[in-house]
Amino acid sequence: MKACIFDLDGVLVDTAKYHFIAWQRLASNLGVDFTEHDNEQLKGLSRDASLDYILIKGKITASVSEREIWKEQKNNWYLELVTNMPEDEVLPNCKELLQDLKKNNIKIGLGSASKNAKLILDRVNITHYFDTIIDGTVTSKSKPDPEVFLLGAKALSVEPSECIVFEDALNGVKAAKLGGFTTIGIGDADVLTEADLVKPSLLGLNYEELKKIFIAY
Ligand code: G6P
Ligand code: MG
Repeated sequence: MKACIFDLDGVLVDTAKYHFIAWQRLASNLGVDFTEHDNEQLKGLSRDASLDYILIKGKITASVSEREIWKEQKNNWYLELVTNMPEDEVLPNCKELLQDLKKNNIKIGLGSASKNAKLILDRVNITHYFDTIIDGTVTSKSKPDPEVFLLGAKALSVEPSECIVFEDALNGVKAAKLGGFTTIGIGDADVLTEADLVKPSLLGLNYEELKKIFIAY
């Protein structure tokens, strides 16, 4: 194990709930029913792909300018929520785990679809842990395409087979598995069925534990 690549929303920071609130608000404005199940499908998708999902569900055809306006609306609501979140709102054991990996010379990458990733990392003061940040501003393909994680491994000069990816979204787990990474799902094992191993949260994970997991899978 030479590197760990983390998804952001829902793995390191509890921002998945804010994406949900903002998409639900947009869907409701457009007259589209938006459930927890729908939200699960959107996790890990780019902003554009997420809007597509809602428009398809609502059988809505939209012009390019309407799409831009709706994406901006959603993002403004999301940013409002994030701006009000406490500055220490990382998920339990996030900083401890990053610290422990750093101490043991494991390279650390971010692999997120979000164009707001750097802003969030700064907000919760964890930017300095990352050797590379691959986010929605540099990727061209949405998860489940493995692009984001492959770019991460490349930037860290490691092979996918030398990395663990952490993901809370089924699309993200699929992306990591397609890319050839050992994949730990963070969340519900009934949802993240394709992960090598699923943990309810980062709690209990540290360098020693991850080494064991890496060897076992
Ligand atoms: C992540 C989240 C998604 C979000 C996407 C785009 O993948 O899981 O819920 O829609 O990033 O985020 P952005 O901040 O660029 O709108
Ligand atoms: Mg996520």
